[in-house]
Amino acid sequence: VVFGSGKPSKPRIAFVGEAPGKNEDETGEPFIGKAGILLDSMISAMKLKRDDLYICNVVNCRPPENRTPYPDEVVACSPFLFGQLRAVEPECIVALGASAARALLRAKRSIKDMRGKWHDWEGIPLRVTFHPAFLLRDPQKKREAWGDLQEVMAKLRIS
Ligand code: URA
Repeated sequence: VVFGSGKPSKPRIAFVGEAPGKNEDETGEPFIGKAGILLDSMISAMKLKRDDLYICNVVNCRPPENRTPYPDEVVACSPFLFGQLRAVEPECIVALGASAARALLRAKRSIKDMRGKWHDWEGIPLRVTFHPAFLLRDPQKKREAWGDLQEVMAKLRIS
């Protein structure tokens, strides 16, 4: 089981991923494997540190064989995810990938449809970008992801 980690109150951003992987499951820390290393470079490119942020996942238990969580698993974990976000009150939420975006926006839309605009999650601005594990498989998409993160930096007035 892997809970969220980082700034427990008023973080600048809450990054929401999909589910813990093997490394995360073994250590109890979110995003510490290969995808986490890429997330760390995205965070430092944004001139931020993990300590400024809250990092969590849609589901807290590792799905077998790293499969995508099933819809009933997402529904079962949503109150916990929403509870974390309500408790930490981030200035902004970044959904990493379609699973997080769908869980937070409560909609089965494509990532193409959800990226490129601001959404509202219970009064908190929310932006959707690609999951770092997807960016590792398709590095050409990093440029678009950086565009998403620059929108977040502008919203948070990070220059
Ligand atoms: N590690 C996590 O904690 N979440 C993901 O979505 C992927 C890797």
